[in-house]
Amino acid sequence: MEIRFEKNPNPAKKPDPASLGFGKIFTDHMFMMDYTAGEGWHDARIVPFSNLSIHPACTALHYGSEIFEGLKAYRRADGKVQLFRPIENIRRMNRSAERLCLPEIPEEDALDILLTFVRTEEDWTPSAPGTSLYLRPFMFGNDETLGVHSVNHATFLIIASPVGSYYKEGINPVKIMIEDEDVRAVRGGTGYAKCGGNYAASNRAGHRAETRGYSQVLWLDGVERKYIEEVGAMNVMFKIGDEVVTPKLTGSILPGITRKSIIELLTKEGYKVSERLLSVDELAKSMEDGTLVEAWGCGTAAVVSPIGELCYRDHKYTVNGGKIGELTQHLYDTLTGIQWGKIPDEFGWTVKL
Ligand code: PLP
Ligand code: COI
Repeated sequence: MEIRFEKNPNPAKKPDPASLGFGKIFTDHMFMMDYTAGEGWHDARIVPFSNLSIHPACTALHYGSEIFEGLKAYRRADGKVQLFRPIENIRRMNRSAERLCLPEIPEEDALDILLTFVRTEEDWTPSAPGTSLYLRPFMFGNDETLGVHSVNHATFLIIASPVGSYYKEGINPVKIMIEDEDVRAVRGGTGYAKCGGNYAASNRAGHRAETRGYSQVLWLDGVERKYIEEVGAMNVMFKIGDEVVTPKLTGSILPGITRKSIIELLTKEGYKVSERLLSVDELAKSMEDGTLVEAWGCGTAAVVSPIGELCYRDHKYTVNGGKIGELTQHLYDTLTGIQWGKIPDEFGWTVKL
């Protein structure tokens, strides 16, 4: 695929790694291309990072036709930069596109675009411990008309942001509130797709949880309000006795790439891992009788994030004494070890630039 390049004449100074946080600073360039029905994708370009100019009737602004992805480029100890399972993000983006009636991008083209863009912004990949270059591919419906239809025009972009940890707690345990009022998604809806609308619908409960001192909410299924689904920006796993349980993918949960990797890792290491329905009652019982040993969330932004407290209907349960558990620490060390190139990648997950 031919990609036009327009160099930013005013490159920014690289930020102090201590000030990074998540998603506040952006690199010098962005990737952009447009889609027109009948013509396909065209005008692929890497241009200086800037605001966009869009028509006030743009479909995404009115009807929420928007999907996104999140993956990271990591600076290895030997100085090289690598991506983690980018093809999985590309495949998930195409599944999201199919659900939202947005155009798909052929896998080879998407990978070529991603690698070309990251090579352009490679210098922005920080090297301080715990930092990376977060990549945010996204696509939106871009018709200039108010009719509700699948779109004839779309725009795809990739922006990049050097990041530290997502939660202010870093690797320290977070507090999570189980939400039994609002729901995030239902089967048959868009829960499995990574679309902006899912997050817009999550904000009210997320805000309520934050005002009560919790980092995020843990969603229950939208039909029976009975089964554990996932957390606001991560999948969730529990060690109950000697079984690691994670909610199975029923269609309303995002199929996380970190989730998939941890399942593969634990299975290889001989752990008993179950992808199954887990009711909130079973979880509450395991917290009461002490069989819940550890709980953690996992995601690209959140990495592996220990859960130190769960609140359900005003009952507060402390998990593992509010400290990071042994298995959670092991998973964090192994996964980030592979991502930052500190330990051998026996799975073939990493892709060097
Ligand atoms: N669930 C939700 C709602 C998310 O936003 C994310 C983050 O991307 C995840 C799960 C984890 O997915 P992944 O591991 O692919 O980043
Ligand atoms: C990610 O982990 O990449 C996410 O997309 C989570 C988020 C910041 C919404």
